[in-house]
Amino acid sequence: MVDNQTAQNEERKKIILSGIQPTGTITLGNYLGAVKNWQIMQSEFDSIFFIADMHALTVRREPSEFRQTSLNFFAQFLACGLDPERAIMYFQSHVHQHAELQWILNCNTYVGEASRMTQFKDKSAKHADNINMGLMDYPVLMAADILLFQSDLVPVGVDQKQHLELTRDIAIRFNNRYGETFKVPDGYIPKTGAKICSLQEPTAKMSKSDPDPNAGVSITDDEGTIVRRFKRAVTDSGNEICVREDKPGITNLINIYAAIENKSVEDVEKEFSGQGYGTFKIAVGESVAAKFKPIREEYIKYLADKQYIAQVAKDGAEKAARLAERTLRKVKKKVGFVAF
Ligand code: TRP
Repeated sequence: MVDNQTAQNEERKKIILSGIQPTGTITLGNYLGAVKNWQIMQSEFDSIFFIADMHALTVRREPSEFRQTSLNFFAQFLACGLDPERAIMYFQSHVHQHAELQWILNCNTYVGEASRMTQFKDKSAKHADNINMGLMDYPVLMAADILLFQSDLVPVGVDQKQHLELTRDIAIRFNNRYGETFKVPDGYIPKTGAKICSLQEPTAKMSKSDPDPNAGVSITDDEGTIVRRFKRAVTDSGNEICVREDKPGITNLINIYAAIENKSVEDVEKEFSGQGYGTFKIAVGESVAAKFKPIREEYIKYLADKQYIAQVAKDGAEKAARLAERTLRKVKKKVGFVAF
């Protein structure tokens, strides 16, 4: 026989949490690599998805543009099918517990660890005139995001794996020093979701902050733009449509088509065998455009309803704060803050 408590534990769904920085718009890469999987996972897990606006502030942003981009992102979450009935969705800056926990974690993180992070080194080189404290503290805020909710699983791309490792180190260290407090989270690399690369430089990842507009497509782009960008996509020498190391351009397009059409890479190779690059590029563009058309329509609809966005974001922040406060209260007690 199982007692009540055990039954409850067994029933408890795993908690997944992920965030995305509101810069640019959600690209095909973000969509296939992250948001589409979140949309699927929200039925299976207790899900928390947030707009990492505090992280985005580590780079200088023009305030009114930043505010609009953040709002747009929220509308894009909704348009991609993230469902406020099933997932908690909010803006990070609306839940003060993130910053509060970050401070306590800061005091349990070494400068040496933070300054060794590859992304910190890369970003310092890229923004040499603005190596602010937040840039170095970025992964500690990320650790706070994750640990606040006792998350079990954190879907991240490869570029964030090091930050997740640091999160685990901080959690383990804190638990050893103060007693069991945090769930040590695992990374979650989804089964589907190949890395999507730039259409112009197919060995680099498709990035929402790429200055070259032809490098990517976004869920908010119209059909004409999408097809045009795919027509212009850089391909490789030769004429065979197959996945091969010396064919990064065609490989990327095959991965995109396979992911959008839910087909295997082998089936895509067969489908287009003997056809030219030109035909294939148009087929991929049209497939992506068809997939994004309803998303874009939803996006425009949500964007026009600011009140609805405000309501969902407020509800989400309240729910998130309630959960976060449970962990934070425990942490404050453990470190020895006075409580009455
Ligand atoms: N750093 C992540 C990125 O740029 C975004 C992020 C912030 C995040 N906090 C997080 C992802 C917590 C997962 C969990 O992709």
